[in-house]
Order: sequence, then structure tokens, then C-alpha cells
Amino acid sequence: MTLPNQAPPIFNFNELTSIDLDAQSPLAKGSIRKVFLVPGHEDHLVKVFRSNKTPHHQKRQLHMHKLPWLRHPIVFDQNRYDLRELSSLSKRVGPLIWQHFPPTYGIVDTTLGPGLVQQKIRNADGSDCLNLEVSLKNESDMPRIKEALWQFRSFLSYHHIVIRDLNTGNLLVHHDLDDALTIIMIDGFGNSDYFKWASVSRALNDKKLDRKFGRLMSYLQI
Ligand SMILES: Nc1ncnc2c1ncn2[C@@H]1O[C@H](COP(=O)(O)OP(=O)(O)O)[C@@H](O)[C@H]1O
Ligand SMILES: [Mg+2]
Repeated sequence: MTLPNQAPPIFNFNELTSIDLDAQSPLAKGSIRKVFLVPGHEDHLVKVFRSNKTPHHQKRQLHMHKLPWLRHPIVFDQNRYDLRELSSLSKRVGPLIWQHFPPTYGIVDTTLGPGLVQQKIRNADGSDCLNLEVSLKNESDMPRIKEALWQFRSFLSYHHIVIRDLNTGNLLVHHDLDDALTIIMIDGFGNSDYFKWASVSRALNDKKLDRKFGRLMSYLQI
């Protein structure tokens, strides 16, 4: 995990010409991507599309191939979308952004298609950093998780950061050395609304954050 206020460590992912993932089992699976460790780089992971969720498949499922002018192709490519969003956030917010979002390096070829290379978020003691879905099973952490979620909401509001999908699989609960908790959002940032009002108005973004955090809190019953 990158220390707060520091730029992410340099990772020369260009050295990785093509990553062979054929013999590897995924570390985690999301709704559209599978996540693998980069072989030989235990602190980095690569996200590739599930075989039926490639940008091409998603476009066809929504029949968007018939209406190509309606949506920009990047909308269907979650890897390119994440890379673009995180680069623009890091330019606008500066290194503080890595307190709550994962350092992300670029897109490389893999045997399972193009993959997004990202830092694997670990707890300060080196253990795996679990997502909120899994962390919720430890009920004694609930009040501290709630506090960390509100702190994350303030960060998003202060820096006018727009999010689209605040689900428990997209949030990691990071444990510091003194066991303070921080929320890291690894997916679900950016604005997918047709009219992007939240991106132009802080007040409207705050309303959107209230709605999304309200829904999450009632789902978590905290
Ligand atoms: N940078 C990361 N560090 C540690 N774990 C991660 C990271 N990115 C993703 N994961 C794990 O992989 C899971 C799926 O990743 P995600 O990016 O949400 O995929 P999808 O786009 O398919 O939803 C997450 O719930 C989390 O457990
Ligand atoms: Mg996800």
C-alpha cells in the first residue's frame, strides 16, 4: 500500500511484453473481470475481461453495435475507462488520490486479452486487503468500517470525485499498522450518467453521494 501523500512507486510495466496467464488461477473475480497476480511481481495484479464480458460482447448484448454513434467505445472497455479516470483524477487531485484509489500503470497484452496493471492493495502488515463484502463478516469491525466509509465520503465530496457503483465488491477495507481502517475504491468510479450534472456541480455530486452512501448504509444496516 502506498503511504498517504506519496506518489505510487514506479513500476516499469513496459518490461512485460506479454503475460502468460494460461496456467494461472485468478486471485479474485468481479462481475466483468478476472484478477490475476502478475507472475514474478507479487505486488501487482492484472485485470482481464471474463470471456463473455469483453467490450465486444457487452456492445452486442446491449445491441449497441447497431447504434455505434450512441456511445463512445471506451464506455464498454472498463480497463481503458479505469485508466483514463484514474490518470485524470491523479492530475487533478495529486498524490493524495492514492489514499483511496489504487495506483494504476497501464494496459498490457496477456494470453487472455488486454489487461489493466494495477498495484495489489495489501494491508500495512502485508496481508491481503479484503473487500467490504468479505470484511463485513467480522462484525466487531462494523463501527470502524462505518467511520471509514464516512471519511471516504468526505474525501469524495471535498475533491469533487464522481462515482457510479458503490457496491461492496468495489471497496477494499485497508488496515494500517495501528489498525486504523481506510476505504480504497478499486472499481466503480467515474460518471456513467447520460447528463453528467454531478461532474459540473459540487452540490449535485454531494446529493448523488448522499443517495449512494445512504443506500449502502441501509444495505449494511449500520
Ligand atoms: N487493486 C486491487 N488490490 C487488491 N484486490 C483487488 C484489486 N482490484 C480488484 N481486487 C479484487 O478483485 C475483485 C474484483 O475486482 P473489480 O475491479 O471490482 O472487477 P470487476 O470490474 O469485474 O467488478 C475485487 O472485489 C477485489 O476483491
Ligand atoms: Mg467491481
